Amino acid sequence: MAIDYTQKIPNNVNLADDRTLQRALEQWQPNFITWWDDVGPEGSTNHEVYLRTATSVDPQGWAVFDYVKMRDYRWGIFLNPADAERQIHFGDHKGEKAWQDVPGEHRANLRRIIVTQGDTEPASVEQQRHLGLTAPSLYDLRNLFQVNVEEGRHLWAMVYLLQKFFGRDGREEAGALLERTSGDANNPRILGAFNEKTPDWLAFFMFTYFTDRDGKFQLAALAESAFDPLARTTKFMLTEEAHHMFVGESGVSRVLQRTAQVMNELKTDDPALVRAAGAIDLGTIQRYLNFHYSVTIDLFGADQSSNAATFYSSGLKGRYEEGKRSDDHVLKGQTYKVLEVQNGQLGEKEVPMLNALNEVLRDDFIKDSIAGIGRWNKVLEKAGLTQRLAAPHKAFNRKIGALAGIRMSPDGRVVSDEEWKAKESEWLPSPADFAFVASLMGPVLEPGKFAGWIAPPAMGINKNPVDFEYVRFG
Ligand SMILES: [Fe+2]
Ligand SMILES: [Fe+2]
Repeated sequence: MAIDYTQKIPNNVNLADDRTLQRALEQWQPNFITWWDDVGPEGSTNHEVYLRTATSVDPQGWAVFDYVKMRDYRWGIFLNPADAERQIHFGDHKGEKAWQDVPGEHRANLRRIIVTQGDTEPASVEQQRHLGLTAPSLYDLRNLFQVNVEEGRHLWAMVYLLQKFFGRDGREEAGALLERTSGDANNPRILGAFNEKTPDWLAFFMFTYFTDRDGKFQLAALAESAFDPLARTTKFMLTEEAHHMFVGESGVSRVLQRTAQVMNELKTDDPALVRAAGAIDLGTIQRYLNFHYSVTIDLFGADQSSNAATFYSSGLKGRYEEGKRSDDHVLKGQTYKVLEVQNGQLGEKEVPMLNALNEVLRDDFIKDSIAGIGRWNKVLEKAGLTQRLAAPHKAFNRKIGALAGIRMSPDGRVVSDEEWKAKESEWLPSPADFAFVASLMGPVLEPGKFAGWIAPPAMGINKNPVDFEYVRFG
């Protein structure tokens, strides 16, 4: 299914035949470019970046690579192909035909779901906007920019749905997506993790590993939706998301590889000596992991939520890999275990599964995240080190749901306020950790050169060598 690039807005939704939508999008487009110029990647206007651009929604050969100035990137609207026979396969409408339009009774909820997803896309671009000034290599700089333009395109994907299906409120919401700003005191982004800072490249790699993975799970749940245009658009977004998580996973792996190398050369595990040699000590890496893991699992929402039940039963949002599950896909009368603290003790309780679907998705995310931490540990194992990274306990540092505000150690003990205060700087990155990591940040801009705190990747992008000129400075 080819994408029409002769249009001002590349698309595979026959935009030329829909005048109203075309007009709405063309009015929004200059505001998007202004937003990109104002709060997108700092100082990048004249860079020519070796980027991939989607050309088709066919998973085989769906993109081309070429040098592009980012504000000229062909942001567009791409949906996976339609299946005319598609049926709703979960919830109360199971077995009915998928919806090609928004049913009136689900309009408010669907709009809210789309706005919440849409809001995360520009937020992450804003969070990452200063990182281009301190890239550890051209290869990494290019990867950052690739993630940034694709998050921009994800915003377009959600704006398309709002403008096509939600009339005037949709157009207003599309405008508001460019008005909220990550971390802004008066008009912040909707979700907590998207108002946090991404101050350095270790934070960026953790963010793309954990928080883009939240994106994967949310998009996968929406790809099951009875509202077919939402399902098709999120399916295509998932294709792009895989690279974002690769950037995070391989980024942290390369940091670990370099740290392990320094520890072996110096025959030490003393963080001060590792730091003095210009590498990031494992304790700091673990603290960054603890932070990004805990703020990201908050994104799944309250452990018990009547909204989650409504979204599922009415067919708006499914579970991760809904189609691969062998239960009845209605879930009435089924239960699920959630955590609770009673009298200072952590325990479990069974609750109706429909109300616990946020927790179900969070647990799927946790499983997937922990698998990658295992791959990071292989790097340490291969280097002959005995230290390992670990995911903190699910109740550690939570701000949302029944576990919010509970003082829990990373290894899952309920602790006193005193112990929390005494140990916080061992468990979460401290101002001193941030200052140290900041002191290592680049930029390193010579092709094939890498900052001293990170190993080069095994391979370049699109079969190019690692020392390829991934970014040309205009
Ligand atoms: Fe995204
Ligand atoms: Fe992403």
